[in-house]
Amino acid sequence: MKLMSRLAIAVSLTSLMPLSALAGEVEVLHWWTSGGEKRAVDTLQKLVEDQGHTWKDFAVAGGGGEAAMTVLKTRAVSGNPPAAAQIKGPDIQEWGELGLLAKLDGVAKAQQWDQLLPPQVIDVMQFGGHYVAVPVNVHRVNWLWINPEVFAKAGATPPTTLDEFFAAADKLKAAGFMPLAHGGQPWQDSTVFEDLALGLLGPDDYRKAFVDLDREVLTGAKMVEVFAALQKLHGYVDANAAGRDWNSATAMVMNGKAGMQIMGDWAKSEWSAAGKQAGSDYQCLPFPGTQGSFAFNIDSLAMFKLGDADNRKAQEDLARTVMGTEFQNVFNQNKGSIPVRLDQDMSGFDACAQQSMADFKAAAANGGLQPSLAHGMAASSYVQGAVFDVVTNFFNDPKADPKVAAQQLAAAIEAVQ
Ligand code: GAL
Repeated sequence: MKLMSRLAIAVSLTSLMPLSALAGEVEVLHWWTSGGEKRAVDTLQKLVEDQGHTWKDFAVAGGGGEAAMTVLKTRAVSGNPPAAAQIKGPDIQEWGELGLLAKLDGVAKAQQWDQLLPPQVIDVMQFGGHYVAVPVNVHRVNWLWINPEVFAKAGATPPTTLDEFFAAADKLKAAGFMPLAHGGQPWQDSTVFEDLALGLLGPDDYRKAFVDLDREVLTGAKMVEVFAALQKLHGYVDANAAGRDWNSATAMVMNGKAGMQIMGDWAKSEWSAAGKQAGSDYQCLPFPGTQGSFAFNIDSLAMFKLGDADNRKAQEDLARTVMGTEFQNVFNQNKGSIPVRLDQDMSGFDACAQQSMADFKAAAANGGLQPSLAHGMAASSYVQGAVFDVVTNFFNDPKADPKVAAQQLAAAIEAVQ
């Protein structure tokens, strides 16, 4: 048979095959709605659509994802969960126990996830020995973002200790700048609290407090110091902080209104989207006093059981894409995080990401690598919620007593266990 007629038969056979045999739909729940984070998630959408699948975006705005998790519960209760949802840390186990999550072992085996991922990450992604979620990235929570131009104008020095941090804040204030851009939302308050705790308690006691939930550490003298530092820090937050989104706070540092922001490295997504260069337009410093430690926050997409075979195929392709080197490279450069694959080429990444990767590896080797409490890595969502309540009430009451707060923290955690 001539080549052309063979081709013609092949083409007509292909056109006879229903499209649905090749393509499915994936509905993906996430809360990546800021300008920079949307750019990152758009890269995933494109990679999935390039494979012929339909992407159904299920974005629920709200930093930290509390709103998204509430919406997800409603959808799951009505028997209609999305194909994939950004569910993180110990929460994955809770969803697994409900029997709702799909197994990804086939994709994981073919792509050798066991060899590509750090063991701590594998544990979190599996339920009952099966992969039920795919990790997207590694975010570091204990960062301080500064505007060097504002620092220079104020004669302030980039801080490496907590004392230096307050000294810089005083200089910024005296020069008429907002020292610290902060958004008064519970998860942001607790992000700051956790950074202070990591520095003042050190990684071992941080772990005892927020992973082991050890009463002695939760109520100890160091924890009282953490609350006292949080109270002092509140003095550098402006009166309009209530309800402010984290990316609006980032914008205040970027446009020179404020000098600093305490935030995880998703903040970098906003700087990157604005075309700003790490190291010159802005600087990322480990939160003062936490050098050598790394509070990790791993984003992951958990997969729900689906009935439709085409949609299951699309779901597996989504998982494979997320662990692929192209996605890990492009998404993470836009998102501010570092790749979760240990073998990833980092040469295209900026100075902050390079430092993050080096610090991640060093911290993993010396005990400094600890799970973020504020971002659902350390404890259940119930414990996280209890901490949020105590920390935010304390933060908003200038007369609150740090000693009482530490007792309340332990009591609130005990009540939800
Ligand atoms: C975290 C999430 C990040 C980022 C941040 C702000 O919980 O892991 O990816 O989106 O919230 O919303």
